[in-house]
Amino acid sequence: MIEIKDLVVKYRHKEQETVALDRINLRIAAGDIYTFIGPSGCGKSTLLYVLSGILKEYTGKVTIDGHGIDPKTQRIGLILQNYGLLPWQNVYHNITLGIRIKNGQQVLDDYGQYILEQLGIESLLHRYPKELSGGQQQRVAIARAFILQPDLLLMDEPFSALDAINREELQDLFLRIWRENNVTTAFITHSVDEALYLGSKIVVFSAAPGRILEVVDNPCFRLDNLRFRDEYYDMCMQLRKILDKG
Ligand SMILES: Nc1ncnc2c1ncn2[C@@H]1O[C@H](COP(=O)(O)OP(=O)(O)OP(=O)(O)O)[C@@H](O)[C@H]1O
Ligand SMILES: [Mg+2]
Repeated sequence: MIEIKDLVVKYRHKEQETVALDRINLRIAAGDIYTFIGPSGCGKSTLLYVLSGILKEYTGKVTIDGHGIDPKTQRIGLILQNYGLLPWQNVYHNITLGIRIKNGQQVLDDYGQYILEQLGIESLLHRYPKELSGGQQQRVAIARAFILQPDLLLMDEPFSALDAINREELQDLFLRIWRENNVTTAFITHSVDEALYLGSKIVVFSAAPGRILEVVDNPCFRLDNLRFRDEYYDMCMQLRKILDKG
């Protein structure tokens, strides 16, 4: 369980102060996917930086299972807006980065091999990120996060740079792997469709400074053939209304 109490984040740049997040209160239940949606600049990435332990200057309280955020003791898988691959390392070294840092593990175990197969990137291990397509880079970033078997998975618009076909395929692949281990996930997106397709709860942010407008229970989560259902379109309309009000 992740608990966020009265979180306020301010950035200072020269003389100017920007309030990025304004009194955020939220609980993310263990084993759930929460999707976060809101206008550009409302503080979504900032929230992920706080949850990942990268950003420490804030007021309020953020805990994972009652403990303060500490990437040294907690396993946190992070997929950044620009994939976050190291350009000077090949795919193999990129995907084993997390497990090397965490437990000194140099080789992939059976689970690691399984994830590579699921993502279809076994043949790309010796390539460098610049030799991969956008979709392939995204698969590598997902592999790295899953192979770490994190307690918390943080994803910042991971599929937004992909074309529609690749995006839908990766969304389905992500859900399939996710269902096998139900890792607690915070998933940021610009897309109402994606928020509904992937989230069991949808957190809707206001325009800057980011506040939570509403946390919406998603009745569509886990329904089969979701993209073709009326409920899906009804929920899309409902979310768009909340976003428009904010
Ligand atoms: N390092 C920084 N210094 C100063 N201001 C910053 C910094 N990083 C972000 N901001 C500001 O904080 C606010 C929130 O930024 P953030 O990147 O969290 O938004 P976002 O919701 O992720 O936007 P997008 O959807 O475009 O990715 C914005 O107004 C942004 O300009
Ligand atoms: Mg962002």
